[in-house]
Amino acid sequence: MLENSGLFDSKAIKAQFPTLSQVVSGKSLVYLDNAATSQKPLCVIEALENYYRNNNSNVHRGMHELSRRATEAYESARNRMALFIGAESSEEIIWTRGTTEGINLVANSWGTQNLSANDEILLTTMEHHSNIVPWQLLAERTGATIRYIEMDAEGHLDLTNLEELCGKRTKIVACTQVSNSLGTINPLEPIISQARSVGALVLVDGAQAVPHQAIDVGRMDCDFYVFSGHKMCGPTGIGVLWGRKEILDKMPPYQGGGEMIKLVQRNRSTWADLPHKFEAGTPNIAGAIVLARAADFLEEIGFDAVKEHERNLLAYALEQLGAVEGIKIFGPSDQTLRSSVISFHLGDIHPLDVSTILDAEGIAIRVGHHCAQLVMQHLGVTVTARASFYLYNTYGDVDRLVSGLHSANNIFAP
Ligand SMILES: Cc1ncc(COP(=O)(O)O)c(C=O)c1O
Repeated sequence: MLENSGLFDSKAIKAQFPTLSQVVSGKSLVYLDNAATSQKPLCVIEALENYYRNNNSNVHRGMHELSRRATEAYESARNRMALFIGAESSEEIIWTRGTTEGINLVANSWGTQNLSANDEILLTTMEHHSNIVPWQLLAERTGATIRYIEMDAEGHLDLTNLEELCGKRTKIVACTQVSNSLGTINPLEPIISQARSVGALVLVDGAQAVPHQAIDVGRMDCDFYVFSGHKMCGPTGIGVLWGRKEILDKMPPYQGGGEMIKLVQRNRSTWADLPHKFEAGTPNIAGAIVLARAADFLEEIGFDAVKEHERNLLAYALEQLGAVEGIKIFGPSDQTLRSSVISFHLGDIHPLDVSTILDAEGIAIRVGHHCAQLVMQHLGVTVTARASFYLYNTYGDVDRLVSGLHSANNIFAP
């Protein structure tokens, strides 16, 4: 199988990721846990080192050279991320710790201000827990009700009763763009258009989309968009909440502290303008700067090429895995409607045993409920094994996975 189809040379790309060149359990590492977190290219690691070696300082506070440098790099990273997702202005880019914090910020700030009993929050049963639990906490505080868009047997959202689910009482719809447990790519247009028709806001969880495809929040026409840096070749502890300026402007602060105020008096304070109103305390300066470098890295390769490579890899993986005895692959059968996340069971072998055998072969996959217990309940299982691919994975990685699964079958053969 050719590793470099078209302009894409996945072996050359893999060589830029130092962690991927190591030996694990006596074999070269095959990393297939990308939906959990991605590895980091050398340019990102170097950007982090460069920041701490040369420019480390707190931002917005000091009138000295290092602080000026750090502030400039930090704010230009914000501009970079605005461009990266098609935001109109960098004021709409709020730095967070990641997707989870972005959703909690919206649920706490916008949600507490705008929801009351009789209001409804519409989610889907496909969501990661981070797009369920903050809304449950909000519902408890406000008396609002949570409703769910269900899935069909293959893990597509069932939109047949969308008009009934998303009605006059619906104040916000929060939906993932791509499922982390099934790989389903969701049709956001009908959901956003129905939400618009009843005046509800829409939050899109882009955690599993941003690493793999170009995003244009303007074109998407949602109100909030959240994602994590660590899944897109960036560092942990940094992510982005994008929101429409007119909505963010009206929202109260999420946390109080330094950086987010204009004036503090004994009994009350006034808030800084966007985006600082939502960024209390010393931020993850290095994380933000390095995330911008990760965005450069991905765009230098080009999302068209990344997407094509992942589509080819997915097709090859589904074909090869399909021939493994006893395998059951969950999620959409239509490859155009799924990402490069493959959840599976191997006969009666417990997914933990599958993963242990693969680990002994130097192959990293994930086993668990993937923070998506509603999905597991829908599938009637408690856990799945999950292999998830990224731009640096090769056809050779798929072959190693398949051969590891054959080994598992042999070990557990009756
Ligand atoms: C779809 C989805 N949403 C939210 C999250 C939470 O992301 P984080 O833990 O980076 O906040 C994840 C992480 O796996 C995810 O896959």
